[in-house]
Amino acid sequence: MGGLVPLDTEVNGERHRREVEPRLLLVDFLREYLRLTGTHSGCDDGLCGACTVLVDGEPVKSCLMLAAQVDGARITTVEGLRAEDGPHPVQQAFVDAEAVQCGYCTPGFVVAATALLARDAAPTDDGVREGLVGNLCRCGCYQNIRKAVRSVGGSR
Ligand code: FES
Ligand code: FES
Repeated sequence: MGGLVPLDTEVNGERHRREVEPRLLLVDFLREYLRLTGTHSGCDDGLCGACTVLVDGEPVKSCLMLAAQVDGARITTVEGLRAEDGPHPVQQAFVDAEAVQCGYCTPGFVVAATALLARDAAPTDDGVREGLVGNLCRCGCYQNIRKAVRSVGGSR
């Protein structure tokens, strides 16, 4: 069909080749085409971070990116973080620290925190604040979220 653009991308280790609308957002590609609904859409304006995914290991807000822009890239969503034998350590830490109320923000925080810990294995409290500045929690779980992230990284 005319007007579509080719997209060849790897999502959570699985290759996907599609033709998509040039204006299709990455968040909508993940949710609507691939049914990876763990990536949430909160504001569609780059403000809340609920849509955070990793693109070639870097956290991005998928509501600010076109699907066509990830042609040739490797995407990891919150579903892709899960280990074969159970939850990812960051996911488990959020549970253990009770860093969740409604859970709407949680996938974005978990993905952003995973990227933060890859950059800095033992962030300070301020480092966690800074690393997660692009993610908002309307339930106000910030204290427990920082506790969860630091429990994975260890404190210093
Ligand atoms: S939905 Fe992307 S930042 Fe809010
Ligand atoms: S737990 Fe509800 S928005 Fe964060």
